[in-house]
Amino acid sequence: MDAVEVIRTKRDGRRLSDEQIGWFIGRYAEGGEIADEQAAALAMAIFFNGMEPDELATWTRAMVDSGRTLDLSGVGRPTVDKHSTGGVGDKVSLVLVPLVAACGAAVPQLSGRGLGHTGGTLDKMESIPGWSATLEPDAMIEVLRTVGGVIAGATADLAPADRRLYALRDVTSTVDSIPLIASSIMSKKIAEGTDALVLDVKVGSGAFLPEVDRARELARTMVGLGEKNGVRTVALLTAMHTVLGRTAGNALEVAESVEVLDGGGPADLVEVTLALAREMVDVAGLDADPAEVLASGRARAVWDDMVRAQGGDPTAPLQVAPHVETVDAPASGVLGRLDCRSVGIAVWRLGAGRARKEDPVSASAGIVCLAKPGDPVEAGQPVLELHVEDPSRFAAAREALQGAIEVSDEPPTPMPLIVDRIAI
Ligand code: URA
Repeated sequence: MDAVEVIRTKRDGRRLSDEQIGWFIGRYAEGGEIADEQAAALAMAIFFNGMEPDELATWTRAMVDSGRTLDLSGVGRPTVDKHSTGGVGDKVSLVLVPLVAACGAAVPQLSGRGLGHTGGTLDKMESIPGWSATLEPDAMIEVLRTVGGVIAGATADLAPADRRLYALRDVTSTVDSIPLIASSIMSKKIAEGTDALVLDVKVGSGAFLPEVDRARELARTMVGLGEKNGVRTVALLTAMHTVLGRTAGNALEVAESVEVLDGGGPADLVEVTLALAREMVDVAGLDADPAEVLASGRARAVWDDMVRAQGGDPTAPLQVAPHVETVDAPASGVLGRLDCRSVGIAVWRLGAGRARKEDPVSASAGIVCLAKPGDPVEAGQPVLELHVEDPSRFAAAREALQGAIEVSDEPPTPMPLIVDRIAI
């Protein structure tokens, strides 16, 4: 087998054979025989020429087989996870994991860190004093058995081929390819060992793939890959035109999630969380009403246990930013648009996100939306609060927000939060 021949096959628009895929992925994950430039060339050829469904299934399986697969059969509850394609203020996992665990499932959420304008669940959780993302597989199974929910960092031996390939795609502009995204996400979820999976595929300006048709195609591709690999999979397409809830930034989002777990919180966040929770409960074969479980306080109790199980103190105060400035409404009327991507970039520039994997993040930096689209505003009224540790960051964040706030005479056309549901 020869890497140049594999690249040529895909460059010329032909299907890769199962042998070619197994050889290439296996050797690339091991390191040495296949150079990064060869893997980058193949990723670019896939970007332009795509993959056939059975070819993609083989590719995904090879990524799973490049590392270890977790066996969760000992947890004694049905296992179900959720994956979001990422959004601004998307703190849904923080509420959903304890909520679905309180409904009777085991939720093994292995997450990554944020890169670019969307936040990472681990970064948010790490703003809780003492909490650690590291949990060895045996300890994870024990927490799943006793508490029911885990949010932790994926270990390096889980789909290692994806770990190498994703880092390479990030620097070669080959991230936004449907077969590459679908195989990357699904290989990690299949390796995680969950019985069932609900995908939250975001649509709108803050999403990876803003257009609904591309998001739908990604959802269909991932649902197909899950089902082919024995993971019952359903996807919801949900709106990401504006920030979900009122906050974006690590500690700010933890505080807002706890508000929801305590029975309050913004209506849009509660609606998306409950819609996903219902799908998870259903696909796990459980008979529970997530709205009733949330109202009962049982999800909040599971959250406290989850945080403690990983060394955190759920009662400890969260970091508060020492500097706060506002961005004000440019005119009176109704807030028409609060552009999601711009807010995400501003949050990142305030220090809540990272540009490179090894960069530290600020726990307290972020944005609070004092008004959301559809709310009446007066000229000069604060619309956004910018929170920062290092005030020299304000200017770059303000620049990202230029033109992000639009005030009009008419209220914006209401858009549904749940855009579509994809299942086989
Ligand atoms: N998230 C992933 O894990 N992989 C991708 O390719 C894109 C988003």
